[in-house]
Amino acid sequence: MEARTCLAIVLAAGEGTRMRSARPKVLHAIAGRSLLGHVLAAVAEAGVTATAIVIGPGQDAVAAEAKRVLPGATCFVQRERRGTAHAALAAKPVIARQPDDILVVYGDTPLIRAATLKRLRAPLAAGAAVAVLAFRPADPAGYGRLITAGDRLIAIREEADASLSERAIGLCNGGMMALAGKSALAILERIGDHNRKSEFYLTEAVEIARAMKLPAVAVEVEEDDVRGINTKKELAEAEAVAQQRLRQAALDAGVTLVAPDTVFLCADTKFGKDVVVEPYVVFGEKVSVEDGAVIHSFSHLTGAQVGKGASVGPFARLRPGTRLGEGSRIGNFVEVKEALLEAGAKANHLSYIGDAFVGADANIGAGTITCNYDGNAKHRTEIGKNAFIGSNSALVAPVEIGAGAYVGSGSVITENVPPGALALARGRQVVKEGWAARLRALKSLGKRKAHSRD
Ligand code: UD1
Ligand code: CA
Repeated sequence: MEARTCLAIVLAAGEGTRMRSARPKVLHAIAGRSLLGHVLAAVAEAGVTATAIVIGPGQDAVAAEAKRVLPGATCFVQRERRGTAHAALAAKPVIARQPDDILVVYGDTPLIRAATLKRLRAPLAAGAAVAVLAFRPADPAGYGRLITAGDRLIAIREEADASLSERAIGLCNGGMMALAGKSALAILERIGDHNRKSEFYLTEAVEIARAMKLPAVAVEVEEDDVRGINTKKELAEAEAVAQQRLRQAALDAGVTLVAPDTVFLCADTKFGKDVVVEPYVVFGEKVSVEDGAVIHSFSHLTGAQVGKGASVGPFARLRPGTRLGEGSRIGNFVEVKEALLEAGAKANHLSYIGDAFVGADANIGAGTITCNYDGNAKHRTEIGKNAFIGSNSALVAPVEIGAGAYVGSGSVITENVPPGALALARGRQVVKEGWAARLRALKSLGKRKAHSRD
């Protein structure tokens, strides 16, 4: 059987005023990825063949984020906020193409999983016209209630329009819905705004389908899947759920997390086999850690590739563009940015390595700084394999240190150093015999004179 086509419509035209932020709600992030990014990732994984995103007027930043994560997505603008059905109809041109399945999902529901969306689609293949994600929250206040008869869904009643007995129903609308493509437009266009808020409610699709003698069903899921984000508190709660899921997935994949609750992961963090992550480590976007590497405590990594058997930290900071070769070592209080360290290279203490190449087995002494910025532009430092950079050296870029060269401690290197050479660039040591002893003697004489005066 041929795979069913599926259109996902992601509703993201809300203003999110309760976030108290200048940033559009769906651009806030959990686990290092925007709320919209999470939803689009789940949608993409659920076998969707086309994606439409409904945004509000002037929400160019939301459109840009949509394009960034899913270049094939199409944005539609909902000119006025007139309800969830009105929002879905903003994507009418693509609904009219009659895909087999249509998923309507919310952009502010980042914990939705692909498996859940697949479960929501499943009844359509079995002949349903409408399938609704249902859940039983501890407190149903504010949610639409599902009115059912046996396994059939009769209607969804918004709380504002519900009678007392309807409000007593515990089964609630998670908001997301699947519609059969062939009847979707006919149903959506019949939805009216005869309710308390005079909005076009997507939920009315259920009663309309019933009136058209088309079956509607509810698919019950866990509350986390449908958790919507409206406030910063809910954002933090969703972050906690996302982190638990990511930690569990890492543990399941064989990563050793010594204290899982203290490790913060990103939705795209990648681990090889036998990786150890010590307590209190933060992973930002785009980090991969290959087999056997160890990330020691209190390290912060973003945009970094950590090679096989490499050792990072404690207290290391890896910034975007860092690539660490096999068995390389980045020690405490070392910051690396936009730099490739080849196999076996070491920077064990207190260094900044930025815009640099460090050849295999080179040793970067404590306190070495690549001076990559002249206040105007960034410049590169190239350090050949087996080079030895003495402690507390400043390498003023652009500069090259040849393979096997040796830089004396405390040097300020402004010119290239040929392979195999020694470069010393520091003031000559001055020694004055007996100078300190004389100074001390003078001081104690002064003190005695002062005492004898009182
Ligand atoms: C909706 C459901 C309710 C369900 C709840 C679950 C309706 C009428 N009600 O209520 O049954 O229990 O979700 O969380 O569907 N949006 C637009 N344009 C609009 C209106 C909304 O894009 O004109 C988007 C919002 O940005 C949001 C989503 O649709 O992502 C849901 O809208 P919201 O106003 O939060 O719906 P609820 O009142 O929570
Ligand atoms: Ca809501």
